[in-house]
Amino acid sequence: MEFFLDTADVDEIREIAAWGILDGVTTNPSLIKKSGRDFKEVVREIAGICSGPISAEVTAMDTEGMIAQGLALKADLPDNVIIKIPCTAEGLAATKVLNEKGIDTNVTLVFSAAQALMAAKAGATYVSPFIGRIDDTGHDGMNLIAEIMEVWASYDITTKVLAASIRHPTHVLQCIQLGAHTATMPAKIFRQLMKHPLTDKGLEGFLKDWAAVEAAGNA
Ligand code: G3P
Repeated sequence: MEFFLDTADVDEIREIAAWGILDGVTTNPSLIKKSGRDFKEVVREIAGICSGPISAEVTAMDTEGMIAQGLALKADLPDNVIIKIPCTAEGLAATKVLNEKGIDTNVTLVFSAAQALMAAKAGATYVSPFIGRIDDTGHDGMNLIAEIMEVWASYDITTKVLAASIRHPTHVLQCIQLGAHTATMPAKIFRQLMKHPLTDKGLEGFLKDWAAVEAAGNA
C-alpha cells in the first residue's frame, strides 16, 4: 500500500520523507492557500523532496481549460508531478485526453462508486474518494471504500484507489484491510500511526537495563 502526505507544507514533507516510507504527496487549492506560497514554486520544491507522484490540481471548469492547465503544469514542473482533476463530466473528458497523451492523473472529489468507476473508464491513474467529508455528513465514508473495492474486484481495473480526506489512524487501518492501493493523510496521522505507548515503555526498560549492563562492565 502506498502512503502519501496530504499537505503543501515542505517542512512536514521533509520530516516524513526522512522516515523512508513516503510514496507521494497530494496537494489541492486549499492546501496551497494554507502554505501561503506560490503554487508552482511550492510544487516544484515538493517534487524535489519526494520522488513519488505529486498531485497538482487544475482549477479550470471546462475540459479545454483543464487540458491546457494540465499540459502547462506538466511542461513547467518536474516529471513526477501528476495532474489532479475534479470528478465532473468535463473532468472525465480532460482525464481521457491527458491519459491518451501519457499524462498521469488523480481524479478527485469522488463521493460514489459510480463516479470512481467512470473516472477509471476515462483512464485515471488514481481516483480519490473522500472518506472524512462523508463522515462529516453523518454517513460512513468507509462504506464508499468498501463499495469501490468490491467493484474493482469484479473488473480488470488498473486505476489505483487513493483514499483521501483521512481524519484518524483507524481510517488508514480500515483502508488497508479493504485493500485500497493508496492513502493520503496529514503528517499528524503519520505520527499517530507510528506511536505506541508500549513501544516507548519497552524501550525505556531496555535502555535502563542496558545502562546497568554497562555499569557492570559487561557491555
Ligand atoms: O487532498 C484532498 C483531501 O484529502 C482533503 O481532505 O481533510 O480537506 O477533507 P479534507
